[in-house]
This record gives sequence, structure tokens and C-alpha cells, in this order.
Amino acid sequence: MKTDTTPIVRLEDYRPSDFHIEKVHLDISLHPTETRVISTITLLRNPAGNPSAPLALDGDELVLKSVKIEGEEVSPSDYEATPQSLVIRKFPERVFDLTIETALNPTANTKLMGLYRSNGIYCTQCEAEGFRRITYFLDRPDVMTVYTTRLEADRNDAPVLLGNGNPNERGDVPDSNRHYAIWHDPFPKPAYLFAVVGGNLDHVGKTFKTMSGRDVDIAVYVEKGKGDRADYALDALERSMRWDEQTFGREYDLEVFNVVAVSDFNMGAMENKGLNIFNDKYVLASSETATDGDYAGIESVIAHEYFHNWTGNRITCRDWFQLCLKEGLTVFRDQEFSADERSRPVCRISDIKTLRARQFPEDAGPLAHPVRPPQYSEINNFYTATVYEKGAELVRMLKTLIGADAFRKGMDIYFDSCDGTAATMEDFLGAFEQSSGKDLSHFAKWYGQAGTPHITVKGHYDATAKTYKLDFTQVTQPTPGQPSKEPLVIPVSLGLVTSKGDLPLDCSSVNENGVFVLDKASDSIVFSNVSEEPVPSVFRNFSAPVKVSLELDSKDLLTLLVHDSDPFNRWQAAQTIATRLLVRMVNGEDCKAEIEAFASSLLEFTNETAASDPAFTALVLTMPGESDIIQEIGSDIDPDAIFKSRTILKRILSSVLSPVLVPLYNSLANTGPYSPDAASAGKRSLRNLLLDLIACNNSAEGEKLAQAQIQSATNMTEHFAALSVLSHIPGNARENAFTEFGKRYSNEPLVLDKWFALQAVIPEESVLGRIERLTQNPAYAISNPNRVRAVYGAFAMSNLTQFNRADGKGYDLLADLAIKLDKINPQITARLLTAFGSWRRMNGVRQAHAEAALKRIAAQPDLSRDTSDIVQRSLA
Ligand code: PHE
Ligand code: ZN
Repeated sequence: MKTDTTPIVRLEDYRPSDFHIEKVHLDISLHPTETRVISTITLLRNPAGNPSAPLALDGDELVLKSVKIEGEEVSPSDYEATPQSLVIRKFPERVFDLTIETALNPTANTKLMGLYRSNGIYCTQCEAEGFRRITYFLDRPDVMTVYTTRLEADRNDAPVLLGNGNPNERGDVPDSNRHYAIWHDPFPKPAYLFAVVGGNLDHVGKTFKTMSGRDVDIAVYVEKGKGDRADYALDALERSMRWDEQTFGREYDLEVFNVVAVSDFNMGAMENKGLNIFNDKYVLASSETATDGDYAGIESVIAHEYFHNWTGNRITCRDWFQLCLKEGLTVFRDQEFSADERSRPVCRISDIKTLRARQFPEDAGPLAHPVRPPQYSEINNFYTATVYEKGAELVRMLKTLIGADAFRKGMDIYFDSCDGTAATMEDFLGAFEQSSGKDLSHFAKWYGQAGTPHITVKGHYDATAKTYKLDFTQVTQPTPGQPSKEPLVIPVSLGLVTSKGDLPLDCSSVNENGVFVLDKASDSIVFSNVSEEPVPSVFRNFSAPVKVSLELDSKDLLTLLVHDSDPFNRWQAAQTIATRLLVRMVNGEDCKAEIEAFASSLLEFTNETAASDPAFTALVLTMPGESDIIQEIGSDIDPDAIFKSRTILKRILSSVLSPVLVPLYNSLANTGPYSPDAASAGKRSLRNLLLDLIACNNSAEGEKLAQAQIQSATNMTEHFAALSVLSHIPGNARENAFTEFGKRYSNEPLVLDKWFALQAVIPEESVLGRIERLTQNPAYAISNPNRVRAVYGAFAMSNLTQFNRADGKGYDLLADLAIKLDKINPQITARLLTAFGSWRRMNGVRQAHAEAALKRIAAQPDLSRDTSDIVQRSLA
């Protein structure tokens, strides 16, 4: 085991760089296996640095060819070079040029960090520390400089050559089959935002006129032959650019903006300045190959990366501890964009579901960390739901606390005062202290304290005094490295609801927006002039990322479901009832009568809401997920009991709803051509949910309807939803449908990914054999992150009963894969292994199996830093 040698990087150790880089000129000559990079950096000492420090540049697996200072070759005895670093002690004590030549093999680069080749396309990924795999550099985000890049390649191999910034010049290299392009980016940036692309690509594009009237050429580049699938991404890009002008006054700043889709990519996408590079999953869409969910994902990732141009690029991070400065804020911005473009309540509820399914478990497990972590051994492992999704919630809370006007003004101050700098969370919060006049030092603790606060609320009505009192307490459980927790500042958006709707709020502790700020361990507020006993509606719109306990009976919750003016709490009311029933069933209670009563209310709700708001109806009728139940129960989890209880609940719901299921299903049938807009997608989501409910209770009918839906489907949303329903009904119909689908889309890797994932989550013992067969499919490749995620990610994250099998074979499957994959792509391996984050919550024998699997991985020689970090923290 080699673990204790990995250095820990600490926030408190931050020191400014010893050197500035005035500018850099890169000359990159692309070749599949022998790419040459000549980097000329113009350096000078940073007065804020250590005046006698040597020049120490970062590298990673680099092959050094030569070093020159001011054009003069430096003898190898005058520097110390390893693949990881280049240290020079003798150099002029003034501005000087350092020229470094390195050799790269993009084809052999399976880590997909630095310069690599994806399906014949040269591309780069430099965040967080990938630039050092291209050349020796001061690879830290506070070293910002101006880049000029000359890119050269074979004319046929790479007719398209793209870089950051604006195109300067292009031409042929005389007497050769090669050509070149020169790109210049006038905006100083850190190395992690550097990018180049070379390949034989198709594109779609148009001219965007900015708010000040400048023309920008915007384009989306895709693999040859896929140009007809790039239109939606281009449209989403244009809408994002307009939205950021209208909502935040932010205008685009270069003459061109390019998006490139590649098929091998570790993450979703990357915001390189003027040249965003995407996982093609978040670009390519046609009605035949992409679902409504894919379209929504494309829209939000395109927006996210575009919004980074201001929140991330123009203002970047001082160090990687400030990652949430760009990510939390940019997720908040993309969520607001989607909410404006679609249904705000539906988007909000979906975002909250994601947060609870991914971030809450993280905060409650061995990998818990603050939104701004105080230390890391591998920064790649901190691109987490906590930094991204909880980070976005903190920005949302800030807006709730200071109000929309002060928030917008604060954003303007932030943009004005930090533009062109590498900033910190303190800079960000300072802008809002200025705009609001409020002291945000207590609020700032959210950034340093891990764990999900648990808020207990109690209500008392005094009929004589006509007052209503709410008592609040907050508690946060210890997390790794943080044994004791402080009270946080928690905005509680609330209302008092009766069957006639919201009561007016008469309470001096509640502001005009209905927000009470809880900032102590416990506090109480009293409302006056409360004419009848109300049902409290607390944490409206999920006003803080917390867990809430509030003793409301089913009758009260049903009042909220029907009468609350807050859509989130209407939805939450149904979820709360269902979750309670599920927990009791897992504990062996038979709750049939109560489930039937609940289902009758849902029937009534459906009759009233389905026609006017199908998407919201679908959300309400979707029962809590397995992970919601796990979080509620907490420990000693029996996955089989959870699965069984959920199945029974859905069956009873289905039988009570049966009078409306088929008629409603039929009435929502698609007419007219496919459109991915939110309203159409909402109808499809309800219709597909109804099909699933039909099949729960009557598998013959479900099978018949699903087969018919596959036949008549005019788009992938309908087609795939029907296949998903079939996937839960063992038998020939299912197997034939799988075979058919696999054949039909054998040349469509992104479509096959859905098919891989669907089969990997079948909750049956035989799934292990099925996974084995899937990995033998010619379309499967262990080197492609999307394929691995589709098979193993889906299995480990979404097949609760089979991943957590009592015989331990689920854990072993993931461990075997991890041991193999770590040698190919450590980042993806580490990410998959976060599925072990809940192993201590499982019951008896499962824990021992999980621990053994983790220890088996830990015992491997030469484990990557990424994997070893996750395994060690999971075992700690
Ligand atoms: N910065 C990217 C984003 O927009 C994510 C990313 C991180 C991509 C690291 C690649 C590598 O969220
Ligand atoms: Zn981002």
C-alpha cells in the first residue's frame, strides 16, 4: 500500500507565486504519437514572492527535449528535470524568455488529461492540473497570462484547427502536407483554461449580435457526419448568451465562440476561454437519438459552460480551494437560466431531487467535506455534488437573505471589482456585504462547515390568543475532521396554510418575503392574528439545504398538497407521506389501508392537475427513490426490504389509480411532430410515468402497451421509456426488445449507453452475467468514460439491491473493474468508487464484503493518487 507518501495541500498554506508570466507563445505541432510543443514563456519575479526562490515549474509525465534561456541552449547540468518538474536556478534577474520543448504522445494518453486523441480528434483537457502534461509551467490558477498559440497539423488529418481567443492567421506549411493556424487570446487566463482542437470536423454556426452591437461568430463543431445533431446546442448557446445579457448585464467578449464535442471526455464539459470542449453526450441531439432529459441536459450544460466566461474565466479562482467560487455560482446561474426557459417549479424540484440524491449522501458519509474544503491530496476528487450543487444552494440562500435587488447589485460589484483577477470566496461575499450593508461573516460559515443541518420545527396554536408559535432547533452531525459544529445562518421561507389558502403573516421576525432567519441553535417566533389553526409550510422552495423534521399528520400534509401556494411544498407533502409509509413498511408494518387512503388523495390530485400541469403531476406521482428511504432510515440498511416496500407501494398506488391510468395515458398520446420544449416534454413525462404505473400492477397490460409504444414511437423519449417499462418485466418480450434495440442502434454509442445502463440496473440476481455480456459488446470500450459510466456507474449508483448484494458479488464486480481501470483512467476510477460511500450504512454481512473489496483495491501496487485518496477516505 502506498498512500502516506501523498502530500496534502492546505488552504492555510497559500502563498503567491514566486514568478509572474508576462506572456506565453506556444507552438504545437500535432502528430498522433509524436507531437512537439515549443513553449516560450516571458518570466519575471513576483515582488510578492520569495526573492531567492529557484524557478520551479510543474510537469506530469513529460518528456523534455530542450531548454533555452533568451534563445541560448541551457546545459542539462544547469537544470533539474524529472517528468514531474523542471527546476532552474540560474537565470537573469530581469524579464527573460524561457523556451522549453517537450514531446507528447496523444494517442497513448488514456487519462484524458492534457493533450489526447478522441476518435481521431486532437483535443485538450487542462482543468485542474492538465496543462502540466503539455509543457512545464506554473500550473496554478493565480498565474494568469496572455496566450498566443500556433497550431500545426496534417491538412487531411486535421483540417480544422482551433484555439483560445481570436483567430489571427492561417496558412499552409510550404513543401509539406501540413498547415497551421495562429490563435491569440487577449484576456489573461490561468493555464487550466487553455485548449486546442484539431480534427476533421463538421460544424453549424451563426452570427450573434451582442447587446452593444458587436458581431460574434458562434459555432458548434462535431465529428464528421453529425452536423445535423448540433442545432439544439447552437440554439441553447444563443439563448444563454442573450439571457446573461438580460439577467446579469454580461456581454461576450471575443470575436468568436466555439464549442467542440468529443466522444472521450472525463466530465460533462469544459469552459476553456472561447473554446468550450464538451462530452458529446451534452451536444448531440436528434429526436431519434436523444430523450427529453438529454435535451434538458444539453441546454443546461451549454449554458453552464458559457456562463463560466464571466464566472470562472474573466474572474477566476485564486487556488483550487475556491473551486465553489466558479462552480457553485455557475450552477446557480445555469439553474436560473433553465428555470426561466422552462417551468420554474419543475426545474426547482428536479434540482432539489438531484441535491438530495447526490449531495446529502455525500455530506452524511466518509467523503463529506465543506463547500470550500480546507485541504486535498487530489483536487480531481473535489469536483463533487457538495462543491457544485450545495455551492449553488449557498448562492441561492445568499440571494434569499439579502433580497433580489441587493443580490443583483452585489453581482455587479463583484464583476466590476474582481474582473481580470483570481479571486476568493471572501472577495465574492465582500461584494454582497457592500451591496446589502449586511455583515455576512456568520453566513460565511456555510463554506467551511460540512454536513447537512437537521432542523426540527414544532408548531403550537393558541386558539384564545389567536397566536401561532413556531419553535426551531438546528443540529449538524459530526463529519470527518469536524467533530463539533456551530449553528449556521438559515433562511426559513414560510407560510401558514389553511384550506382557504395562505394566511397573512403577522410577525416581526418574518420579512416581507415571508423569510425568518434562524441563526442560533434554537429560536422561536410567534404570529399574531391567526384566525384559525393553520398548517405551517416551512422551507418553501427549499430555502436552505437542510433536513427538516416537522410533526404534521397526513391530513395536514394533504392540506399542503392541495392548498399550499408553494409548489415545492405541495410536492414535498406527498413525498413526506410516502416516505413515512415506506419506512414503516421496511420495518415490517403493513400499511395497506393508509397507502390506499393516500393513493385516493393522489387520484383526486391527478384528476385536478394532470391536464393543466402534467409535468408537476408526474413529479408528485413519482414515489421517493431508494436513496431517499436510505437517508431516512440512516443505518442497518436492508436493500431488499427497501426495494420490496417500494414495489408494494407502487402496486397499491397503481390499483387505486387504475380507473384513470389507461384513459389518461391514451389522452396524452403524441400528436404532431416532436418538439423538445418543456410543455411537450411534461406531457410525455406524465404519460411515461402512467405506463410505468400500469405495468406495476398489470404486467401483461403493461407489456402490451409498452410494445405498442415502441412500435409507434416517433422519438427516443417515447421509445426508451417503453423499453424501461419492459425492462422490469422478465420474459421474452423484454429480451427481444433489448436485442432489437441493440441492433437498431449498434452504430450509435450514445443511444447504446442508455441501453447499457438500463440493463445494468435490472434488480435481478442474473444482472452480473448480463453485465459481463454487455462488456463484450463491440461498442463497449473500457477506455471510454461514457461506456464505463453507462455499465458500471449505473450498476453501482442505481442498482441498490444488486450492488449491495448479501453475497458481496456486487462490490467485487466494481472492485475488479476499478483495479483494471485505475491503470487506464484514474479519474473515472475514483469517481466510480464513490459508490462505496454508503457502505457503513448497510446491514451486517454487506459491510464486511464492502470493506474487503475496498481493502483489496487499497492493497494494489502503484494505485493512482485519485483512487487511493477515495479508498483511504472511504475506509477511514
Ligand atoms: N469546469 C468544468 C465545469 O464546467 C468541469 C470539469 C472539471 C471538466 C475538470 C473537466 C475537468 O464544471
Ligand atoms: Zn462548471
